[in-house]
Amino acid sequence: MERKYNFNTVVNRWGTDSVKYFDGTELLPLWVADMDFPLPEEVLSVIKGRVDHGIFGYTRTGSSYWKALDSWCRSEYGYKVKPSEWVTVPGIVYGLSIAIRAVTEPSDAILIEQPVYYPFSQIVKDNNRKLIVAPLCYKDGRYTRDIGAFEKAIRENNVKAFILCSPHNPVGRVWTKEELVAVAEICRRYDVTVIADEIHCDFIRPGIKFTSFATLGDEYKQKLILCTAPSKTFNLAGLQVSNIWVPDTEIRKKFKRENRANGYNEVNTLGMTAAEAVYTLGKPWLIQLKAYLEGNIAYVKDFLAQNIPSVYLVESEGTYLLWLDFHGTGLSNQEIKDRIENKAKLWLDHGDMFGEGGECFERINIACPRSILEQAMNRLKRAFK
Ligand SMILES: Cc1ncc(COP(=O)(O)O)c(C=O)c1O
Repeated sequence: MERKYNFNTVVNRWGTDSVKYFDGTELLPLWVADMDFPLPEEVLSVIKGRVDHGIFGYTRTGSSYWKALDSWCRSEYGYKVKPSEWVTVPGIVYGLSIAIRAVTEPSDAILIEQPVYYPFSQIVKDNNRKLIVAPLCYKDGRYTRDIGAFEKAIRENNVKAFILCSPHNPVGRVWTKEELVAVAEICRRYDVTVIADEIHCDFIRPGIKFTSFATLGDEYKQKLILCTAPSKTFNLAGLQVSNIWVPDTEIRKKFKRENRANGYNEVNTLGMTAAEAVYTLGKPWLIQLKAYLEGNIAYVKDFLAQNIPSVYLVESEGTYLLWLDFHGTGLSNQEIKDRIENKAKLWLDHGDMFGEGGECFERINIACPRSILEQAMNRLKRAFK
């Protein structure tokens, strides 16, 4: 009989040095993209087995690791990569930063779309590159890309690299193949390297299809850096393993040189063990987790419609992060933020952190047991009703 996982159990994370459960705050945290579910026992026992060995010296990614990653990429996303074309890094943001340094020079222009995951703008600025923003279009409760404005931003600013968020955090879009090809074509025409962050790609809603940039065609692979990781899918961020695919030999050399210049050499021992274990054993858990998250999304949608109709849930196609539109409350951006923190006592990510177009939105992480979500929604109701 199929094993049944229980996502309702609340595990106390206070006092564990969790970034999300920051000790001392009285706010209920549903902000950073970090899930409140423990890994399944079959994965934990592999990690415990490695711990029991007792020696944690320098570690390299062995053939079984590459086999597990390859098998996951082929079955889940439909692409195949040679082990030699992957570069392992401790995190995706780290990888994005290395990518920027590998393919651009100081002062070069780098394009992002906002609202977007806030470290994108930060790493561009921190690396002394010029930040160019193409705003996403929000119309009738849905986000799209103005492809004409996208091209204009590239052309007028001599953009050298574009950081794509796919699926998109925080607006929840899963870009269609047609949308991605349009982007790829423009980037190819203007010789722009695409740095595709696909970290959320295992959370795709039923009826929606994820297309990896890697599958668009060989002509779009020459100037591509593809960022993927098990860290969102299986909540392994603290174990620090991500995989960056750099298909082009010359770009890969530069990427590796920047990585080396940072002093990064060997993979985290437990991170590698955990990544291999989830890619090999984690699928049944993930399937049930996604079904549970569907229930959470339906709960939020229903709750808002019945109790706070002035707050609109932007229809999400992927990720476990929901993007709530508070424009209907008639409150200012600052008033909304004040109510969230001081009345609702919730720690959400305020929309304005995500840049242009984020004002009067809040991002809520629904990857938690239903009872926590119920508490959060009731707090929201008290603050906004
Ligand atoms: C789009 C996106 N990229 C990267 C990250 C973070 O990745 P890492 O912790 O591996 O740096 C997140 C985390 O929320 C994210 O949403």
